[in-house]
Amino acid sequence: MALLIRNLSQIATPLGRGPLRGGAMRALAVFDRPVIVIRDSRFAFVGREADIDADLRAAIGDDFDARGATAVPGFIDSHTHIPFAGYRETEFNRRLQGETYEQIAASGGGIASSVHATRRASQEELAGNILARARTMARYGTTTAEAKSGYGLSVEGELKQLRAIRDASQLSPVRLIPTCLAAHDFPPESRSSAAARRGYVSTIIGEILPAVSEEKLAVFCDVFVERGAFSNAEGDAVLRAGAALGLVPRMHADELSDTGGALLAASLGCASADHLMQISDAGIAALAASDTVANLLPATSFFLMSERYAPARQLIDAGAIVSLSTDCNPGTSMTESMPMVMQLATLQMKMTVEESLTAATLNGAASLQVAHETGSIESGKRADLVLLDAPNYLHLVYHFGVNLVVKVMRDGAWMV
Ligand code: NIG
Ligand code: FE
Repeated sequence: MALLIRNLSQIATPLGRGPLRGGAMRALAVFDRPVIVIRDSRFAFVGREADIDADLRAAIGDDFDARGATAVPGFIDSHTHIPFAGYRETEFNRRLQGETYEQIAASGGGIASSVHATRRASQEELAGNILARARTMARYGTTTAEAKSGYGLSVEGELKQLRAIRDASQLSPVRLIPTCLAAHDFPPESRSSAAARRGYVSTIIGEILPAVSEEKLAVFCDVFVERGAFSNAEGDAVLRAGAALGLVPRMHADELSDTGGALLAASLGCASADHLMQISDAGIAALAASDTVANLLPATSFFLMSERYAPARQLIDAGAIVSLSTDCNPGTSMTESMPMVMQLATLQMKMTVEESLTAATLNGAASLQVAHETGSIESGKRADLVLLDAPNYLHLVYHFGVNLVVKVMRDGAWMV
């Protein structure tokens, strides 16, 4: 039995089964007063009601009145750190008094404080936290989200976070795609010497990644390449080891300083290079010439009160594939809201609304390697969509700071 969604003001969606770059990011398909038919959890028809063929029309058994809503694809949040315990609101408050993120990290706060709290939490508690965040994400229109480990920083700690993602997936309204970020930072007990640091890199390569791959706990492997975190050579070694075990590489690159991370990500064929606030012109050219998605996280700049946003315009104009994500984490971006990210992308990074929508849907799906299944509203894809209390898609950014999401569907079922 098929479901007909009628009385829509508009559908706005990018089209395709792969990523869009350059001018193509602005080429949305926009349908006015259309209908959607969903069958077997997939889109079966998108367009004018009069054009539905007789067979499909005969299969329609249910009818949903959208009451003038606008439909857009479910958002794809392709970079999050949601499996964490504890919050860092007091560090946030210290930043408001003038301390920097790096100063707080150097004084024992930052990622280390979340590592302590996450190590103390049980797998069940973490799964509960992930689920609560996934439910918030869904209320803001996300239907697929990546979730990274990286607050365990030990064999048991990383496995516990990834098992918690697996457990939460059973009940989550959002489709969760797991990433092992054991190389998020050096654990507190390995900070004392260069030898101890080398030891942790060996643990990642020799123990954590093989265990993760063996238990099939992650699709991706990520590394935080940054001054004070992992060097380019360490990032390269970890990502190659992951790839040899079937874990697809992605990378936190050029976030706080330009280490040539984007160049490394492109040369390794990473699925994405993320952050890029400090990317060089050579890095932009390398991403533009590659299939590595430039994943931009403007909520992080905003929350760190930085003037510095990733050069979205240059990246798009150079022909790079650009996506947008929340970076949801307790230190640098405490939000689950993709509409907030799209508002920052347009108002601060000068992306157009059309580019932002493509970046928040199809291109994010491409970086998670699911663009053939989701990321746009078109026949054959999984029925993942958001209904907005808005006459058209421009309101997603124009009507800012409020939640326009009224309904969310994933795989043809209403989640919100
Ligand atoms: O994406 N860059 C590294 N990791 C996070 C921050 C994590 C934290 O502060 O807990 C980020 O910004
Ligand atoms: Fe991150």
